Amino acid sequence: AANAMWGGRFAAGPDAIMQAINASIGFDKRLYAQDIAGSRAHAAMLAATGILSDTDAKAIGEGLLTVLSEIETGVFPFRVDLEDIHMNVEARLKEVIGAPAGRLHTARSRNDQVAVDFRLWVRDQCDAAISGIQALISAFLAQAEAGADWVMPGFTHLQTAQPVTWGHHMMAYVEMLGRDLSRFRDARARMNECPLGAAALAGTSFPIDRFMTAAALGFDRPTANSLDSVSDRDFALEFLSASSICALHLSRFAEELVIWSSAQFRFVVLSDRWTTGSSIMPQKKNPDAAELLRAKMGRILGATVALFTVMKGLPLTYSKDMQEDKEQVFDAADTLMLGLAAMTGMVGDMTANRASIAAAAASGFSTATDLADWLVRELGLPFRDAHHITGTLVAMAEQQGCDLPDLTLEQMQSVHDGIRHDVFAVLGVENSVRSRTSYGGTAPDQVRAQIRRWKDILDAP
Ligand code: ARG
Repeated sequence: AANAMWGGRFAAGPDAIMQAINASIGFDKRLYAQDIAGSRAHAAMLAATGILSDTDAKAIGEGLLTVLSEIETGVFPFRVDLEDIHMNVEARLKEVIGAPAGRLHTARSRNDQVAVDFRLWVRDQCDAAISGIQALISAFLAQAEAGADWVMPGFTHLQTAQPVTWGHHMMAYVEMLGRDLSRFRDARARMNECPLGAAALAGTSFPIDRFMTAAALGFDRPTANSLDSVSDRDFALEFLSASSICALHLSRFAEELVIWSSAQFRFVVLSDRWTTGSSIMPQKKNPDAAELLRAKMGRILGATVALFTVMKGLPLTYSKDMQEDKEQVFDAADTLMLGLAAMTGMVGDMTANRASIAAAAASGFSTATDLADWLVRELGLPFRDAHHITGTLVAMAEQQGCDLPDLTLEQMQSVHDGIRHDVFAVLGVENSVRSRTSYGGTAPDQVRAQIRRWKDILDAP
C-alpha cells in the first residue's frame, strides 16, 4: 500500500529493499524528545497566531505528551514503514487524538523539523561535553596541585630534554582542555538559532511567529534564511570537529599513560579500576582503558570525515544524503562522553611514582642547558661557546658512564678553566626547575599560579 503520510500520488508502496535503505527510524528514534518538544512549540505557536484553533492545539499538545510517555515506557509501536521519528510520532498522534493530528504539520516540513530536532540534540551534547571536560580539568588540577613541585623529565622527541614538574605536565593538558571547552561553548552559541518555520525550503505563507517558537525551544533567535536553514549542517560539523580535537588530546595523554605505566618507565601506577589482567601472564596489568581511548580518537575523526564527505558536494537545499548525518554524530558523541568519563576516572585514580620520575629526571644529562646557561651568566661566554663546552662535558660523562654532576671539578676545568665549584648547584634537578620562573615556565610557583588561575576560571559562574 502507498505511504499513509505522503502516498497521495503513489499507486504502489516501496520495494522492501527501498524501505530498508530509506528508513531512518532505527537510529533517529533517539531524537524523539526533541521531535516532540519541537512539535509542541510549533502547535502552541499555530494556536497563538490563530492558524489553529485552541481546542485542536490543546488536543495536539496533550496527545504529544501521551506519545512521549509511550516512548519513554517502551510501549510505543515503532514502524519501519513510517520511515522516521517524525512520521512515527505524527501517525501515532493521529491514533491517539484523531483528526486534529492532521493539522500539526501546517506551515512545517520534515526538512525544518529534522533540522530543529537535530540542532536541539547536538546542543545538548555540547552541554554534556562541556561538563565532561570540566570534570576532567578538575581531575588534572588535583594531580597538578599534589605534584606542583615533583620533578620529572621533560621530553622532546621522547628524549630527555630538561627537568620539569609533574604539576606543569598536568597543567599542559588543562590548557588543551580549556581550549576544548571554549570550542564547544563557541559552537553551541553559533548553533543556537532556530530553523523551525523555514518549512520545506522557502518559508511559508501562513502568518507564523518564528520568534515565538525559537524562544520556546531556548534558541536565541530564528535563522535568517530559509534555504540555509534546511540545508545547513555546520552545527554538526563544528560539534564533530571540536570532538575530534578534544579526542586527540585524550589520545595523546592516553599514549603517555601507556608509556609511563610500562615497567621500563614506571612513572605512574594506574589503579586496578582502569586496567585489566592477562589470561596467561599472571604479572600483567594492562592499560586497556588508555589504549582504547587512544584508539577511539580514530572513530571520532572517522565520523567527522564521513559527515564532511557527505556534505561537501550537496547542492542547496535538503538532499536525502543528509539523513546520513545522525549516526555519525550519535556515535561520535557517545564515544566522546564515554572517553571523557573514562579519562576522568583514570586521571583521578592514577598515582605518580615520585621516586622514579625524580630519578629519571636526573638522568640523561637533563641539566646540560642549565650548565650552558651558567657559563653564559657567570663567565660571560657567548651561548654558542657555552653550548660547545657543555657538549664536550656531556661526551666526557657519557664516556665514563656517569651523569654531569658526577664529574669532578678538575675534569670540568680541563674543558674550561673558568668553571668554579658553585656550578654544581645548577646541575641538580630541583634547582633547575625552580630556576625556570619565566611566565608559563615549569617553576613550582609558576605552576601554582596557573592552578589558581584555572580554579578561578572554573569557579566563575
Ligand atoms: N529522515 C529524514 C532525515 O533524517 C527527515 C527529513 C526528510 N525529508 C524529506 N524531504 N524526505 O533527513
